[in-house]
Amino acid sequence: MVNFFSVYMVSGSKISLLIGKNKKKGDYFVSLQANMKKAYIETYGCQMNVNDTEVIFSILRQAGYARTEVMEEADLVMANTCSIRDNAEQRIWGRLDVFNQLRKKRPGLMVGIVGCMAERLKDKLLDTGKVDLVAGPDAYRSLPRLLEAIGPDSPQIDVLLSRDETYADITPVRTDKNGISAFISIMRGCNNVCSYCVVPYTRGAERSRDAHSIVREACDVYRKGYKEVTLLGQNVDSYLWKSATETVNFARLLAMVAAVAPDLRVRFATSHPKDISDEVIETMAAHPNICHHIHLPVQSGSSRMLEKMRRKYDREWYLERVAKIRSVMPDCGLTTDVIAGFCSETEEDHAQTLSLMEEVGFDWAFMFAYSDRPGTLANRTMQDDVPADEKNRRLNEIIALQNRKSLERYRAMIGKEVEVLVEGPSKRDPSQLCGRASNNMMCVFPAEGRRAGSYATVTVVDSTSATLICK
Ligand code: 5AD
Ligand code: SF4
Repeated sequence: MVNFFSVYMVSGSKISLLIGKNKKKGDYFVSLQANMKKAYIETYGCQMNVNDTEVIFSILRQAGYARTEVMEEADLVMANTCSIRDNAEQRIWGRLDVFNQLRKKRPGLMVGIVGCMAERLKDKLLDTGKVDLVAGPDAYRSLPRLLEAIGPDSPQIDVLLSRDETYADITPVRTDKNGISAFISIMRGCNNVCSYCVVPYTRGAERSRDAHSIVREACDVYRKGYKEVTLLGQNVDSYLWKSATETVNFARLLAMVAAVAPDLRVRFATSHPKDISDEVIETMAAHPNICHHIHLPVQSGSSRMLEKMRRKYDREWYLERVAKIRSVMPDCGLTTDVIAGFCSETEEDHAQTLSLMEEVGFDWAFMFAYSDRPGTLANRTMQDDVPADEKNRRLNEIIALQNRKSLERYRAMIGKEVEVLVEGPSKRDPSQLCGRASNNMMCVFPAEGRRAGSYATVTVVDSTSATLICK
């Protein structure tokens, strides 16, 4: 039985005093509940954005906002956005119309656009008259101030990029549902300036976060019951943090996080082929709780294209890195990103991409048609000259090849034993459980009394091109 005892008004906000009786134990409890405003955030794009949304919820909580998953009950509706390809932005424009409909029905509702698109389009978003708030990826600490200042005709904007903002001292409000796997940002921004990529313009220069604050966050999530952390950065291999007395590179950071607890799995993304070092590969092999999976975006198999993309490695370098990884960790999962139809790509360049994918045999790939992004080097200095239908034809060939390779890679696992971290019921068949093997392959297996968050050793008996069926 629970009773609201009384209600007070404190500095404009309502606070409820809740007095209840625990039926089972018979004792009474008292709890103070602030009637907080509610914030709803939709997240688009990469894992970095997922983690940024968790940082935003933490900042908003200080400003008196609780998180809701129901858009219709929110006082503040936001989209944390992605600019990486044109279609990502088109989706947001569509959502903005939906938010605006709601805003018309509910005067006082505030609508915000944050993240990469906020940074890139700034005033263009404000000019629509559909948004009250625009905040770039380094401006989330300003959110409480901006929200306070919003008025009927005074939308607020902060898109200043920073040289040192890493949100190191903010404890993200975890938004994942399973409570088992947590993202930890280890750096922000990117210094690479690949010619096709908008990220350096939306997320600014590279900054590495204090290594000890990363380890503290890993300890904290482990204490809360999490069993896996994924260290996030645009280019984790160039992580470098220096203090007066120590220098920590990515290999050293991996070892420090792996030492938090033997049953805390460590993953990371994304690696850059030009920067992934022998030291990182050997550190992975030396710690049983660092998962054997590397996401190593190749983008193209043609050295000529890689040069134009400013990737700073060529085909041979990439293949040598793959050979090194496999010689140290023969069981290492390898996934990649591929772009079809970059500026001036010929049939021969495309054939090189297919042959590299054939040769490496990736477990999985994210595959995209090249999308010209305003302001990038390619946009300013090259012709987006591969016709759309040709891009799509090449992309479809890449996808078909990868589907065949994925099936081969997954079927090659049949008969092997793998250790999985149980995540929870399988989406397709809730009577079964699912979890990932160290190499990142998704496994489905009978529950047999296993609990989410525990480790299980299972044998692969069958597979599709994206799931291992285990017993
Ligand atoms: N067009 C298509 N794909 C792109 N990517 C980045 N920029 C573009 C672009 N302009 C892809 C790359 C990158 C991934 C995150 O998105 O493959 O690795
Ligand atoms: Fe993430 Fe890149 Fe999209 Fe920005 S543009 S949200 S960094 S994927």
